[in-house]
Amino acid sequence: MTTNHGRLHQLGLHHGTDKATYHGYLDFYETHLPAAVGRLLEIGIMDGASLKMWHDYYPDATIVGVDNDEQRGRRNIPGVRTVWLDATDPSEVELLTARLGPFDVIIDDGSHMTADQQRSFELLWPAITPGGSYVIEDLHTSHMSNYVNSRQTTIEWLNDMAAQVDGGHNVAISTIIGFWKNQGDPAGFVARHGFPTGRDLWIGPERAESITAIIVKAPAVDRNLADHFAADMVTDDDEVD
Ligand SMILES: C[S@@+](CC[C@H](N)C(=O)[O-])C[C@H]1O[C@@H](n2cnc3c(N)ncnc32)[C@H](O)[C@@H]1O
Repeated sequence: MTTNHGRLHQLGLHHGTDKATYHGYLDFYETHLPAAVGRLLEIGIMDGASLKMWHDYYPDATIVGVDNDEQRGRRNIPGVRTVWLDATDPSEVELLTARLGPFDVIIDDGSHMTADQQRSFELLWPAITPGGSYVIEDLHTSHMSNYVNSRQTTIEWLNDMAAQVDGGHNVAISTIIGFWKNQGDPAGFVARHGFPTGRDLWIGPERAESITAIIVKAPAVDRNLADHFAADMVTDDDEVD
């Protein structure tokens, strides 16, 4: 049987992660994530489905999964380093990045509470390699009142950061790829997840069931600094006879 889906989606289906079966994120990831990585970290192991997928997709990489549930965090997954920790705890994250970082790709598939998404990003962004990618999954929770526990929703917060992007100089974010949206019916989404069907739970205008974003760190060379040196360079034309 032929499909239009890529290899990562096929691996996701094989291992049964909802990144493939429900959200449909994986073709987007295959397009925008590197073909090979050295180290990948995912927040959220649960039954290990996505970690097994990443190991199959990047067989030569160090794949690290973390979970704040002890049983899940200690799960034995061949080819995957699993760690029991809270990805919103500064000292635990510091230990993690010192021992196993930096990472070329980090995927936040943790609690999806907006305060946790923002906290983990702040703690882990410095551990992304230059040119690496940070993925925040299930951003549709920014449109669900029972997941918003921060001053700004994560979508608002990312949009604010995107507005500050200036060639990577200030916030060192070179690109926000996305937001990728799997279009659908938000009320239906809420109902399928067993939440009350009242309109008040869905607080966003978007007609999108699943939203994810890839945020790319600026490359190693600071463009402003490079421009500075280029301007200072003395060329043959500048020489005085
Ligand atoms: C959606 S599941 C992960 C699914 C898995 N990534 C997959 O696609 O197969 C979310 C997991 O994140 C874990 N989690 C929630 N908050 C966390 C935190 N602050 N730090 C680490 N793990 C967390 C939960 O215990 C749960 O196992």
